[in-house]
Amino acid sequence: MKIFLDSANASEIRKWLDEGLVDGVTTNPSIMLNDGVYDLERGARQIAELISPRPVSVEVTTNDHEEMLSQARTFSRWALNIVVKIPVINEFGVSSLRVVRRLEEEENIRVNVTACLSYGQATLAAKVGATYVSIFAGRVSDEGHDASRLIRMTADWLTQWGYKAEIIVGSIREAINIQDASDAGAHIITVPPQFLYKYVDHKYSRDTVRGFNADARKALERMGELRAQVKT
Ligand code: E4P
Repeated sequence: MKIFLDSANASEIRKWLDEGLVDGVTTNPSIMLNDGVYDLERGARQIAELISPRPVSVEVTTNDHEEMLSQARTFSRWALNIVVKIPVINEFGVSSLRVVRRLEEEENIRVNVTACLSYGQATLAAKVGATYVSIFAGRVSDEGHDASRLIRMTADWLTQWGYKAEIIVGSIREAINIQDASDAGAHIITVPPQFLYKYVDHKYSRDTVRGFNADARKALERMGELRAQVKT
C-alpha cells in the first residue's frame, strides 16, 4: 500500500520524505490556500521537484471542459510527475468523464479523478481510463454512508474487470481512517501530515522506551560503581 501526503506544505513534505513514507502528494485548491500557496504554478513546480519522480496531483479550477483541458495541458508541462486532478462532475453536476478520457487516451496525460463519493462515480472514472480514482472517505461518512464498504466494492470491481486505476482514499478525518482504508483494500491513502504524527505515535511506546532508557542509565551507573570497586 502506498502513502501519499495530502498537503502543499513543503517542510512537511520534506520531513516525511526523509522518514521514507511519501510515495506521492495530493493537493487541491483548498489545501493550497490553507498551506499559504497562492501561486499555483510556483507551488506545484516546487512540490513536483521536491518529490520527483513520485507523482503530485494538481487540480483544475474550472467548471468548463475546454478550460479543464487547457489547464491540464499547462499543468502537465510544468513537470513530468504532475498528475491532473479532474473532479468527476463539475459544481453543476455535469460529468467530466469525457475530459478524463480525452486526456488519458488521446493526450497521454495522467488523471486523478477526484471528489468521488459513490460506487458509480468511482467505477465510471476507472472505466474511462483514469490512472487514479479518489474516494473521499471522510465526506462519504459525513453523509452517513459506509466508506469502507465503498472502498472494498470498488477495489474488488477493479480487480474483477482488470482496470488499471488505483484507488486513492482521501478526506482522512481521524488516524483510524488510515487503518480502515488499508483494511478495505485501498491502493493508496492520502494523509494530511498531522495524522501521520499521530499514526506513528503511541503513549505506551513512549513509556516503554522511557523505561528501557532509564534502565540503561542505571546499568551504566552500576558498571561505573563496579569498576570503581575493582580499582580500590
Ligand atoms: C484528496 O485528494 C483530497 O485532497 C482531500 O483528501 C479532500 O479531503 P477533505 O474532505 O478533507 O477536503
